[in-house]
Amino acid sequence: MRVLITGGAGFIGSHLAGDLLDLGHTVDVIDDLSTGSMDNIQHLTDNPNFSVEIDTIANVEKLEKMVAKVDLVYHLAAAVGVQLVVERPLYTIEANIMGTKYVLEACDKYKTKVVIASTSEVFGKSLDVPFREDGDVLLGPTTCSRWSYAASKMVDEFLALAFYQERKLPAIVVRLFNTVGPKQTGRYGMVIPNFVRQALEGESITVFGDGTQSRCFCHVEDVCRALVAIVDKDEAYGQVYNLGTTEEVTINDLATRVIALSGSTSEIKYVPFAEAYSADFEDIARRKPDNTKIGNLLGWAPQNNLDQILTAVIDHERSKQPN
Ligand SMILES: NC(=O)c1ccc[n+]([C@@H]2O[C@H](COP(=O)([O-])OP(=O)(O)OC[C@H]3O[C@@H](n4cnc5c(N)ncnc54)[C@H](O)[C@@H]3O)[C@@H](O)[C@H]2O)c1
Repeated sequence: MRVLITGGAGFIGSHLAGDLLDLGHTVDVIDDLSTGSMDNIQHLTDNPNFSVEIDTIANVEKLEKMVAKVDLVYHLAAAVGVQLVVERPLYTIEANIMGTKYVLEACDKYKTKVVIASTSEVFGKSLDVPFREDGDVLLGPTTCSRWSYAASKMVDEFLALAFYQERKLPAIVVRLFNTVGPKQTGRYGMVIPNFVRQALEGESITVFGDGTQSRCFCHVEDVCRALVAIVDKDEAYGQVYNLGTTEEVTINDLATRVIALSGSTSEIKYVPFAEAYSADFEDIARRKPDNTKIGNLLGWAPQNNLDQILTAVIDHERSKQPN
């Protein structure tokens, strides 16, 4: 099978590309390197079944030509990361909504199967935890730019489902929850790479807010295993799936575990959200998926627990440090 990954030089896309190549598929990537990096895919470039175009998906002509050659598209390209989203809402809205529309239109031309990467952010501040795919969403006001990411990804979901309904485009929406693992960058506000870097450098670990907020962190290997398997399930098309682990941890506990597992002497420093992001910033108290739907579909369950993930990230970051 020949597969196109938009955003394939990003964190998840590069892991997915490696897994698909290992399975014997041919992988094409388009990425504008806005948040991705050639470092993520350098190890793949010698593989004759791998190719990469450094360009934006807004180059519709090129995108269409690339889609024409493949059997399947994973659309991962997006403006990502709370920090980036808060600082550049206009870019976020345009990149996510227009980008997804371009991808869906190109796929529609050839009726190419497509997986759209959405996000658990769409559940917003819902208190109906664990979040089910058919649960209500609760976003904050439009004056708080953070919600532009969730709203833009919701439009992406509506678009994908509309293309499925009206144009018979085989599209699947996957709502990714916090996905982590080696190679994730901390540059755009991702918590685990930042905590690990701070711990290894002996800096204070900066916990935003009071640290009682909780998240569920799933290993990118487990996420990619599900992304690879789901496209073979006919009943998945036209559907929305949560994809994440249910092992829940508070950010305080996460910081403590990173310190313990890395043998660091770092202390925890609390930074108010208003200082970390903006005065109007709103956080999500608990984010936990109900992953029954994808579990039933694929017989999928995460194989890595949080300590295994943290150990892998710490080892990876240590290997990058000068001796
Ligand atoms: N990592 C997570 O925890 C998480 C959680 C929920 C959803 N997601 C979704 O998964 C997808 C991948 O996220 P990631 O964590 O790998 O982030 P990432 O930033 O590493 O990957 C996104 C990639 O898309 C590329 N890109 C952005 N705009 C582009 C454009 N216009 N044209 C071409 N390339 C473009 C970036 O350069 C980057 O390589 C995103 O759609 C994101 O919304 C990720």
